[in-house]
Amino acid sequence: MKIEKVGVVGCGLMGSGIAQVAAGAGLPTVVIEVDERRLEEGVGRIDSFLEKGVERGKLTPDQKKEILSRLDPSTRLEKLSDVDVVIEAVLEDLAVKKELFGKLDAILKPEAIRCSNTSSLCITEMAAATKHPQRFVGLHFFNPVPLMKVVEIIPALTTDPRATDAVQGLARRLGKTPVLAPDRPGFIVNRLLVPYLLDAIRALEEGVGTREDIDAGMKLGCGYPMGPFELLDFVGLDTTYYIANIMFDEFREKRFAPPPLLRRMVLAGHLGRKSGRGFYDYSGKA
Ligand code: CAA
Repeated sequence: MKIEKVGVVGCGLMGSGIAQVAAGAGLPTVVIEVDERRLEEGVGRIDSFLEKGVERGKLTPDQKKEILSRLDPSTRLEKLSDVDVVIEAVLEDLAVKKELFGKLDAILKPEAIRCSNTSSLCITEMAAATKHPQRFVGLHFFNPVPLMKVVEIIPALTTDPRATDAVQGLARRLGKTPVLAPDRPGFIVNRLLVPYLLDAIRALEEGVGTREDIDAGMKLGCGYPMGPFELLDFVGLDTTYYIANIMFDEFREKRFAPPPLLRRMVLAGHLGRKSGRGFYDYSGKA
């Protein structure tokens, strides 16, 4: 199962990062979006990340040009007909993902490996919706994709171990450390991270400390790069709420239950950085 050409579906925050690291690793990469506006936005995000890299001396202008030249952005799924692996990074909605993989069955080479970057949905359920459930693997990246060094590899119940091995090899080629995770909500990282974030909200609700003091405590006391409220705003409160609910539905354990404040902030549209306001105010920032 050789991987020489990559396809990425979705050029949002995660998809653009994935396409960037694939092209950055020397692999020709087709990246798909539903319309030209979103595609331009996604490619623009890649361009500006690389440009900042040039400014920081992490790569040369020529290397940036080469990376961009390996990218083939398109709005046509048919462009994926010769890729060896496709990585789905579209909306976190099972119906949307299943429909996409159904369409891809008619386009991809039969031997192509299908991957999903889902953070919370069931890999085995998505695999079962394709014609090739033995070649389906969860491949979960972390935000910001070009900087975070780990990926979770999640075989479905039906996955051929050779497909898992090939995806592990791909992850290493992308400069990431692969960790093998079970097909259970939250995999490894969110299973531990989300209860921690929810607990921080509960601590705030209970008056344990201010958000600033809790953040400072965890950053300076534990060496975490961000405090829990900074990280909640970074990940998105809606995303955290969504993942927590999926984990709670599956495990029925209190530690996964979203606290009342989180639900209310989501209802109020205080989603974090993306909406300009979460636990902190970003309205004055670009
Ligand atoms: N190109 C190349 N390198 C870049 C770069 C760019 N455009 N931008 C930054 N970097 C490099 C910097 O040069 C620096 O490298 P060195 O250490 O070698 O100097 C490094 O990246 C850090 O950059 P900064 O100093 O500018 O940024 P920072 O120190 O503020 O760190 C951060 C930013 C990496 C995001 C850090 O805050 C962090 O790790 N935060 C936690 C993020 C996290 O936990 N993400 C996971 C979220 S959970 C998730 O994604 C999964 C899910 O399912 C919800």
